[in-house]
Formats: sequence, structure tokens, C-alpha cells
Amino acid sequence: MNTPSRSNTLAILISGRGSNLQSIIDAIAAGRLDASIAVVISNRADAPGLGYAVRAGIETLVLDHQAYRSREDYDRALVAELQVRRVNLVCLAGFMRLLSPVFVDAFPNRILNIHPSLLPKYPGLHPQQQALDDGATVSGATVHVVNKELDAGPIVLQREVPVIPGDTSDTLATRILAVEHQLYPDAIAKVLLRPLGPAPKRRTHVP
Ligand code: GRF
Repeated sequence: MNTPSRSNTLAILISGRGSNLQSIIDAIAAGRLDASIAVVISNRADAPGLGYAVRAGIETLVLDHQAYRSREDYDRALVAELQVRRVNLVCLAGFMRLLSPVFVDAFPNRILNIHPSLLPKYPGLHPQQQALDDGATVSGATVHVVNKELDAGPIVLQREVPVIPGDTSDTLATRILAVEHQLYPDAIAKVLLRPLGPAPKRRTHVP
């Protein structure tokens, strides 16, 4: 595998299980994704996904949002940690936090999220249940750029997953998750190859 150039430096932000994080680690190890992960940050100390990073020898950092007075203060701390590591692309992988403009403006077009539905359908919480309640025959997964609106940024890649009669939220989530694990590394590779906009100016000072 080529040595990743510095413009391929990722940070992965998680809150829990971390299976998408593991799929990104695996894609890099397999040479399917030319990138390196500078740091995995969790807002929860007990996120099981942190173990995947440790096992892969990746730096981990726990930034507990409860230790900050406001969403903006927390996001400023996150941005500072990312900038100091010269991260180019921030990948949210089950990071259960809404991002303030402080964060989004620090990494314009350089934050990705994965969501288990075919956006713009079923944004927000419980998208698999939303699909079932809607009587959908197809759902899927989407990787999109994060902007200031929830789950509404430009779509990078999407893949469909059929809804099967008898599906529960859990069975549908499991099948979508298997697709997510292919989709996220592919979407990251796509964005690294063809960035979605000009790179953010480096700041020495976080506003
Ligand atoms: C995934 O379903 C992802 O689409 C959503 O949160 C879940 C995270 O799962 N945003 P994991 O922590 O990557 O296993």
C-alpha cells in the first residue's frame, strides 16, 4: 500500500459500537482505502468501538460532552484536537451528537456522516422503524456531507437495501449495516479522490 499522503488524514468520531469504524480500519489495512486514521474520538468513555481503535494501534481520545458548558464549547475542544492532528476529513460513525456551526464551519465539506436510510427519506432517529412504519419496500444507507441541517447535506453515495416482509427494525438494521460497511470506505475514497470543495484555511486560533 502507498504511504498515505497528509491530505488523507482521517479522524473517526464515535459514540458506541464502532462497527463502521472497524470497516474503515479493515479497508485501510486491505489497501482498499488509501488513508490513515490520526485519532478516534468518542464522547463516551464506555464506547465499545474504542477497543477496535486500540487493537489497531490508533490513538484514542475521550472527550466527554458533559464536561463542557455548552455545545459550542464542546465543539471548539473537538475542533482543536482535530486541527492539532492536521485532520483533513472527519468521519462521523455513530457519533450521537448534533454539531454546532462552530464545528461545521471549521471543516466545510470535510465532515461525512453515514445514515441508515436513503436520505432525504427518514432523517433523524430510528430511520429503520420510520421505513417500516411508512410501508417502504426499499430502504438503504447514505453517506453524506454534514452541513448545518440534520442529515441534509450533499449525498456522496447511497445503496439500496430491500425491506423484506416480516422485517423488524432490528433485522432491517442488520442488513443495512452490512451494506454500510462497504459503503462508508467507498464514500471516503471517493471524497479523498475528488474533494467536494476548497480545503478549509488552517487556523492557529479556534474561534
Ligand atoms: C450506524 O447504523 C450508522 O448508520 C448510524 O449509527 C450506526 C452506528 O453503528 N449513524 P456503529 O457504531 O458504526 O456500529
